Amino acid sequence: MVHLTHALSLALLLPTAFAAEYLVGVGKDERPGARKGMGFDPSVIHPVAGDVIAFEFRSGQHSVVQSTFENPCTGNGGFKTDVVTVDDSIPVDAPGLPTIRLAVNDTNPIWFFDEAGGLCKQGAVLAVNPTLEQSAAAFKDGGDSDTASSTATGTAASSTNSTSAAIKDGSSVFGALLVALIASFW
Ligand SMILES: *[C@@H]1O[C@H](CO)[C@@H](O)[C@H](O)[C@H]1NC(C)=O
Ligand SMILES: *[C@@H]1O[C@H](CO)[C@@H](O)[C@H](O)[C@H]1NC(C)=O
Repeated sequence: MVHLTHALSLALLLPTAFAAEYLVGVGKDERPGARKGMGFDPSVIHPVAGDVIAFEFRSGQHSVVQSTFENPCTGNGGFKTDVVTVDDSIPVDAPGLPTIRLAVNDTNPIWFFDEAGGLCKQGAVLAVNPTLEQSAAAFKDGGDSDTASSTATGTAASSTNSTSAAIKDGSSVFGALLVALIASFW
């Protein structure tokens, strides 16, 4: 029992010991040169459970809001910071910028956009642990295209087709039954 307790506390301590902090600039251009700008720097990160994301706010008005892969520019009711205002006179990499931290609990994808910055459709988004199917590039593109409605149209059209296919199948089953019935009669 003692050994089990030790193993358990070691397992609980290990993630803490190796926890990394991912510094993400909000309202900062991610291209080299450390300029103020739109979006997140970097705009893709891969933290693991126990790591922490530190959102560091740059000049202007910015807020970090959690969204979904399908609707990149709409809050999903999850994580959401207040609107943070930093004066335009403050240099991009000044010390002591306002910072808000978020603990990461697993490696599932998490999606964010800068709501107060207002440039989500121009690509002010952050992808945390994107996958091959749900990539950061597709998430960035999703903000300015009507992905949701085109998907819905496709689904409606294909369900119409599968319905007519089912009717066709149904009538042939009915035909076969009729043949069998007639055959048994004779
Ligand atoms: C991780 O868990 C903590 C504590 O429950 C919670 O406050 C935080 O929002 C979670 N992180 C994410 C990314 O959901
Ligand atoms: C449904 O079937 C019709 C007729 O076979 C076809 O013209 C149409 O393209 C199909 N639609 C889809 C979404 O597959």
